[in-house]
Amino acid sequence: MEKYEYFSGTPEVGIVPRAPHAGPLLRHVFEQEHGRGGFAGKVSHTYHLYPPTNWLPGESRHLPGWAPDWESPLRAVGGIHHVLGVAPAAPGHDVYRGMGRLVANATAAMNVTAPRAPMDYFFEHHAATMVFFVHAGRGTLETTFGPIEYGKGDFLIVPKGVTHRFELGPGSHYYWMYESFAGDPEKSEAPTTGQFITHSRSDYRFPRSLDTRNESGRFEIVSKVDGVYTRRVHPTHPFDVIGWRGDYLPYKFAVEDVRPLVADRSHVPPSGHTIFRLPGCYLCVFTVRSVEKEGMWVPFFHKNLDYLETLGYHFGDFFSGGGVVGPGVVTVHPVGLPHGPKPRSLQAFMDGANAGVHNEVGIMADFANPAQVSELALGLSRPGYMDAWASYASDPRFAYAPDRLAEARALGERLADARDALRPPRDEG
Ligand SMILES: [Fe+2]
Repeated sequence: MEKYEYFSGTPEVGIVPRAPHAGPLLRHVFEQEHGRGGFAGKVSHTYHLYPPTNWLPGESRHLPGWAPDWESPLRAVGGIHHVLGVAPAAPGHDVYRGMGRLVANATAAMNVTAPRAPMDYFFEHHAATMVFFVHAGRGTLETTFGPIEYGKGDFLIVPKGVTHRFELGPGSHYYWMYESFAGDPEKSEAPTTGQFITHSRSDYRFPRSLDTRNESGRFEIVSKVDGVYTRRVHPTHPFDVIGWRGDYLPYKFAVEDVRPLVADRSHVPPSGHTIFRLPGCYLCVFTVRSVEKEGMWVPFFHKNLDYLETLGYHFGDFFSGGGVVGPGVVTVHPVGLPHGPKPRSLQAFMDGANAGVHNEVGIMADFANPAQVSELALGLSRPGYMDAWASYASDPRFAYAPDRLAEARALGERLADARDALRPPRDEG
């Protein structure tokens, strides 16, 4: 034993050699590299009791039609907004066999799953890193690197290729899952606001407890590459890891640890609430926060000219929703099509209301165009969502009036010198 304790430059847990690929331990246990970027990117090493390729002969096969809704055909969405109702939980569906694709582009996708059955197999996604958001449910994500306990409001990041299994706790479960095909999610931060807005790396929770299994039996691993699912069977438990080292790891991140950017005198745009950037996609969290004091507290009407927007409603009052949405619902706003506050919330803003707190949590994922929606999503779409804005065409406050132009000109004159109250005093002399 050395006199003092140290930590190394790379996270490690359990029994590992002094350095990767080196030392006498490797003549007794089996090192496996999880390597990104053609072994030049992020990397982790796991040390196994048994060779990771000890699959049983004659047992590997493709599984046609294994998760049909995950391959739901994609369609161009055109210029219609959609609101998707909550996906039903089908009996017998586990996390992956019940996975349903909602929206996708070439490098990212949004999916939904409402699992009810346990996983009697292990899973590896060979083509995407997955970001889960737990809208409802709790359980344990068991991984090669150790277990991660999770609950409602947690993000779970499962890197491409990591063997894992969900052990569902009691109660109902509802997860949104975002796939990143061309790279791992990067923490979003702006050079002007630094690394602690809107969250800190210290908020990430990586597994630190190994639950090593020295068990024999039939252990099935299902993998996915694009639309092809393949099964292989091993004679030993896949979590036979006695140690690991590296920075390519699964982790969790609680939505309550998002500390949002707020502004008294302006409106923070959606991009100010980004938590992760993925190739072709960005993920934002709108969470509980102070209402703008003098800036607009409803979103400005906007056209997102390069991205299709999805917004999953997790909790709260949903200040811009105008009573149209509720928990578990997802809105899909196509590229280029204008949208913004529903009439009820805009009316409240125009009347000077200010609730003090936006009491809501919504998860937004925007997908670079060309992005498409699935037939499954269109099947969940509630009719009439475009009509949520209908009273803009009929309410006398918003509809055509012959004297509207003159009224606006008079207002322009009257308000020309209007200033915020929250400002430094001016020299009136
Ligand atoms: Fe939007």
